[in-house]
Amino acid sequence: MNYKITTYGCQMNENDSEKISGMLMELGHVSVEDENMADIVILNTCSVRENANDKFFGHLGRYKRVKRDRPELILAICGCMMQQESVVAEVKSKHRHVDIVFGTHNIHEFPDMLSNHMEKHEMVVGVWQEGGEIVENLPVDRKYDFKAYVSIMNGCNNFCSYCIVPYTRGRERSRSIDSIKMEVEALAQNGCREITLLGQNVNSYGNTFEDSVGFGTLMRELAKTEGLDRIRFMTSHPKDLSDEVIEAIAEEPKICNHIHLPVQSGSSRILKDMNRKYDKDSYIALVEKIKERIPEVALTTDIIVGFPGETEEDFQDTLDVMEKCRFDLAFTFLYSPREGTPAWGRDDQVPEDLKHERLNRLLEVHNKIGREINEGYVGKSLDVLVEGPSKNNPKNLSGRTETAKLVNFPGDMSLTGKIVKVKITQAKTFSLNGEIEQ
Ligand code: 5AD
Ligand code: SF4
Repeated sequence: MNYKITTYGCQMNENDSEKISGMLMELGHVSVEDENMADIVILNTCSVRENANDKFFGHLGRYKRVKRDRPELILAICGCMMQQESVVAEVKSKHRHVDIVFGTHNIHEFPDMLSNHMEKHEMVVGVWQEGGEIVENLPVDRKYDFKAYVSIMNGCNNFCSYCIVPYTRGRERSRSIDSIKMEVEALAQNGCREITLLGQNVNSYGNTFEDSVGFGTLMRELAKTEGLDRIRFMTSHPKDLSDEVIEAIAEEPKICNHIHLPVQSGSSRILKDMNRKYDKDSYIALVEKIKERIPEVALTTDIIVGFPGETEEDFQDTLDVMEKCRFDLAFTFLYSPREGTPAWGRDDQVPEDLKHERLNRLLEVHNKIGREINEGYVGKSLDVLVEGPSKNNPKNLSGRTETAKLVNFPGDMSLTGKIVKVKITQAKTFSLNGEIEQ
């Protein structure tokens, strides 16, 4: 059968989709781009913000018509939203055209659920409330052969007061260093140049182990992999970023000089309410320490605007942190109340128009700083891992520097997957232009 997977949300979901695709391929099914050609449609959902939930139900409704025309189409839904009981209840009562429902902890059960459905022709629902041991050795259908996601841990124990992830992805569990090494070695042998280590909080990698194999040790071990050029990682929680990890990045050339370090807010009062366990000053001090030890580092962050009770003064602190830390890139979000999280029911919610107004002001500062940082790259010669044709101009190539900057430049498609030296000729707000050095 032909199948089409649509993925919403973060890299964790993308990596899960690669595993779902891997399992289907192993069974002889074929991945297709065009949904009209698909016999199985799989929607891998995200629930981090409320509008993702709303959009998904709108989207799901459309399949009622599709299934009226093509009743044999198998519709499977999975991902974080399915870990919410209210969502599964709504699917069961109002979306009977869905065929298979599974969650984030049991993607390995999908092939069995599929055959079960094909035998019985009824809705098959299986969602585990808690994740057990991480299931190893699932086949992975990777999007690229020269770069790959490697998930090193599942779940999150931090319970930031706005965040639904600890409820949808469960408690933190780390994979063993040996199984990660085996996966990375196999990738490198097959021509992979860059890996991105994934976890909700990579800095607490190994905390559940008896011996103290920390994240720094893991990265140093992986850096020994022959043929591998780059190691990236995300996400780092500021409260747990150790000197050991900073040293590993500084000393080991294969570990990219890029840290994604979500600050979420610049206000110490709001950070306390968010349960982030650091404050404005300690975050700025951490950034200063990183920049001193790794002068070339690129810092990216996540910022939430309009957390309940956020005043103009709190927001000014966020602007101040942006100015002081000079992030290369910030992913900015309007606070979205998530049912079941501590911040959800608060009666001091910030009005929507005020949230938007603050977000716009934040973006203005952000874009100015981003452009200034990018202008500093003009004239420099940088290693770029070529990813393929540029989105805006398919005649150009695009790729990323060690510091995760997007670079566009003329060149031959055969360079895809290779690391080339590019001289930067022009800076834009979100990207760089350049020319290959001969
Ligand atoms: N509202 C807005 N943004 C959120 N994030 C997580 N939960 C919420 C929420 N309820 C953001 C955080 C996190 C990123 C992945 O999503 O900034 O770092
Ligand atoms: Fe959510 Fe906080 Fe865990 Fe990140 S660290 S996944 S924001 S609870």
